[in-house]
Amino acid sequence: MQKLIIKGKKKLLGSINISGSKNATLPILASALLSNKDITLKNIPLVQDVYTMINLLKFIGLNIQISKKKNTLKISSNKKLKTIAPYKLLKTMRAGVLVLGPLLAKYKKAKVSLPGGCAIGARPVNLHLFALEKLGAKIKIKNGYIHATAKNGLKGAIIKFPSISVGATENAILAAVSAQGKTIISNCAIEPEIQDMIVFLKKIGCNINFISKRKILIIGTKEFKSTSHEVIFDRIELGTYLIAAALVGEKIIFLKIKPKVVETEIKLLKKMGVKIKISKNKIIVFKSSKISSINIKTEPYPGFPTDLQAQIMVLMLKASGTSKITENIFENRFMHVPELRRMGAKIVTNKNVALVTGPTNLSGAEVMATDLRASVSLVLAALNADNRTIINRVYHLDRGYENLEKKLKKCKANINRT
Ligand code: UD1
Repeated sequence: MQKLIIKGKKKLLGSINISGSKNATLPILASALLSNKDITLKNIPLVQDVYTMINLLKFIGLNIQISKKKNTLKISSNKKLKTIAPYKLLKTMRAGVLVLGPLLAKYKKAKVSLPGGCAIGARPVNLHLFALEKLGAKIKIKNGYIHATAKNGLKGAIIKFPSISVGATENAILAAVSAQGKTIISNCAIEPEIQDMIVFLKKIGCNINFISKRKILIIGTKEFKSTSHEVIFDRIELGTYLIAAALVGEKIIFLKIKPKVVETEIKLLKKMGVKIKISKNKIIVFKSSKISSINIKTEPYPGFPTDLQAQIMVLMLKASGTSKITENIFENRFMHVPELRRMGAKIVTNKNVALVTGPTNLSGAEVMATDLRASVSLVLAALNADNRTIINRVYHLDRGYENLEKKLKKCKANINRT
């Protein structure tokens, strides 16, 4: 099993190109099931979750060509698709459940494995199923599979989500764009990745528009167009490296980004004392003399993302005083805490609240990654720790960070994989 070995306290200097967003790529790939016209996707992050989704779509019957040099995918479809998504392709990546909406809309039936368990919480799919039932689907759960049918096709409906879910919003949209008639979805998630998926859906001919902040109007269509789309940058990857720069940066420049998308994160980092300069498509982080403690809570976009909670915790360890994190999205998302404690961190947790006291001089240790974002928080901690840190189970990192070592090495970090 591969490990990362990091010698900490090296000052980072240079520039980092941010990859395309994994969480935008996954639903956009699922959207490709709707159309039988050629699609080109650019700025695709070549990470494990994206390969898993590609394998799922190939299993279902799409032709997909990958250009690794150009981070581009060409997708075409010239045969009837299977309407099954098997467990072996969903057990490692929950986003596979996003094929349910488009398959059901197109073929009036789908059998999709319930996604595998997840370290950060139960992560049920009841809201996905709630939306599809509103559109007329009949759903049964049998032998670990969701069996969904819509004998006479899906019909437009009013869907008001009882709580906000990124995946359920995506599945509802992907079903409704090809259902008969008008759908209104309210209390939906408005993450930039969903907005990018909507831009893509419009390009392939869908009639979909926001009518207020969390309300979408869709008129179903069966006619789709060929298109080319460049996926939005990965705001979570950017946030992760902004925090790395705040921790151990001399001067780091971030390219290929839109600062407005990460306004919340920038505001928060500035409040903590991080020196940041913003221009149109660029952010520069300079060495910060003093980091201050802060209280944050994770929330749906535009609030602070749960996917950056583990990383900001590492910056809090550098701050003077006690910071507080309230994790509102997932019930078990402090798995990184025991590992950070092994490096000397002073963190106390109680249910969904963590109190982080700094400044702490972290010391290198052998630690274990438990999920994608927890793993990267250990990388950040290692970059700012004395001596050598060994991070086990790095396959979690490979699910979502493209060329992590290469990007950090280019900025002079001492990081190697064995
Ligand atoms: C997506 C992101 C993930 C991010 C999360 C929250 C992708 C591929 N993944 O995950 O990186 O951490 O949004 O920003 O984009 N819930 C239910 N029932 C459901 C669905 C969700 O109760 O049917 C709950 C979840 O357990 C969780 C909350 O709703 O407590 C939010 O989850 P959701 O927004 O659905 O996350 P994902 O789409 O799985």
